[in-house]
Amino acid sequence: MYKKRVLTQNVARLLALSLRTKLSPSVRAAAVNMSTLLVNRPQYSWLRELGLGEDNDGVYNGCWGGQGQVVTSYCPANNEPIARVRQATMAEYEETVQKAQDAWKVWADVPAPKRGEIVRQIGDALRGKIKALGSLVSLEMGKIYVEGVGEVQEYVDVCDYAVGLSRMIGGPILPSERPGHALIEQWNPVGLVGIITAFNFPVAVYGWNNAIALICGNVCLWLDLTVLCFVFVCRIVAEVLERNHLPGAICSMTCGGADIGTAMAKDERVGLLSFTGSTQVGKQVAMMVQERFGRQLLELGGNNAIIVFEDADLNLVVPSAVFASVGTAGQRCTTTRRLMLHESVHDDVVERIAKAYKQIRIGDPWDPNTLYGPLHTKQAVQQYLAAIDQAKQQGGTLVCGGKVMDRPGNYVEPTIITGLPHDAPIVHTETFVPILYVLKFKTEDEAFAWNNEVKQGLSSSIFTKDMGRVFRWLGPKGSDCGIVNVNIPTSGAEIGGAFGGEKHTGGGRESGSDSWKQYMRRSTCTINYSKDLPLAQGIKFE
Ligand code: UN1
Repeated sequence: MYKKRVLTQNVARLLALSLRTKLSPSVRAAAVNMSTLLVNRPQYSWLRELGLGEDNDGVYNGCWGGQGQVVTSYCPANNEPIARVRQATMAEYEETVQKAQDAWKVWADVPAPKRGEIVRQIGDALRGKIKALGSLVSLEMGKIYVEGVGEVQEYVDVCDYAVGLSRMIGGPILPSERPGHALIEQWNPVGLVGIITAFNFPVAVYGWNNAIALICGNVCLWLDLTVLCFVFVCRIVAEVLERNHLPGAICSMTCGGADIGTAMAKDERVGLLSFTGSTQVGKQVAMMVQERFGRQLLELGGNNAIIVFEDADLNLVVPSAVFASVGTAGQRCTTTRRLMLHESVHDDVVERIAKAYKQIRIGDPWDPNTLYGPLHTKQAVQQYLAAIDQAKQQGGTLVCGGKVMDRPGNYVEPTIITGLPHDAPIVHTETFVPILYVLKFKTEDEAFAWNNEVKQGLSSSIFTKDMGRVFRWLGPKGSDCGIVNVNIPTSGAEIGGAFGGEKHTGGGRESGSDSWKQYMRRSTCTINYSKDLPLAQGIKFE
């Protein structure tokens, strides 16, 4: 008993620590002088136009609130405070879950295509604010403006997808072996879907979950710590619900930390917990959810490889590798971290990529000319430096990059490292920064094996013109990842496919294809419409 309590406390402590590092990077609990907040400066007056002020409510459940800790959101491009948010207390979490459950009673009775109509309106409302929200993502998360807009576009796209789906989801009527019997598969919502998202995609990941969960007939409770994006998205969604006279708690949110995350993981009322974040935290969350036999959808780390064969079109390889390794400053779960080059093209490709790296336009993320912005936090800068040290110790050679940049904000040089063994510990570690490890291989078997030898199984890509190789790559002895590409980068997946990965990536699938099934429970229903009672398997019980 004592042991169990200590274990639970340790898990909670680890979760607290990890949630803080993974989810609350640019958010710090500190009293910041009002006049220094960016929201008060004339050049950031657009933040006021979005309805953000010095202090913002971080709880929504039909009413706005936030009686908990006050946190300040910082801009990664200059480390200046943007504005503050009041987080939820545990009492507010409890109240929000109850209101969400009440809201579900209303929402579950709305026919699915009508639920789709509400999701269509959410998509339209996002379309109308796409530039504003894209700018806010860029300011608060640090990704470049076009990528900020791009992730709002993902939310819009998944809304469109979900609208169509709202007229298509359902189960088959199967042939019964018994006369006068019908065998029907019925799908029902799980009820309350808890959604915990990571700092790197503060809008899109919520969108994938929210749009699909809603048309399935669920209500949502969202926890994130990229707090200003979170508040603004929630406001857009709340306006749509309120305009349609629906309970706002259908899409609830609580800004908070590990205490709320732990409560959601342990809460039997949360029918599905969708968690995006590090493998380490995901494992703790998964164990807590499993302990109550709850359902989880995990989208965790990646250690994604691009494999370039001797017959590859190098005009596709170079921009693909650069986009996937440098884009979002290496902070996508789909970022290319390992570039495997056939020995015949190795030196040529390294030279061309290094040249392209040197031409990357580095600057303020919201400047339309910029291609590469800051890391999200100061801790990430330390992780970058530590990884470079380890790579050097393990035999790596710096081709370019490797230094923190001399300018305000969390800027580091995009980095290429060659010469490491394919199984060096640092190559097998996901460091969420722009470091690309280049590996030299000789044969297809070797390259496929190296792709699969890491613990993570998210995204993977080959560049080749050989059709036989393409199908070997897609087949049982090919890539073991959830995303298996040919002649395109590892990142930048479309919403129409199921998104997620195997092994330590957690196994969950979000967004398109049949991912909706994870948000619903299946009942197998056998209905006797005859006057007899034949038993299955021909059993006579007379
Ligand atoms: C993530 O990094 O958590 O495929 C998601 C991509 C994006 C989503 C990334 N559509 O890179």
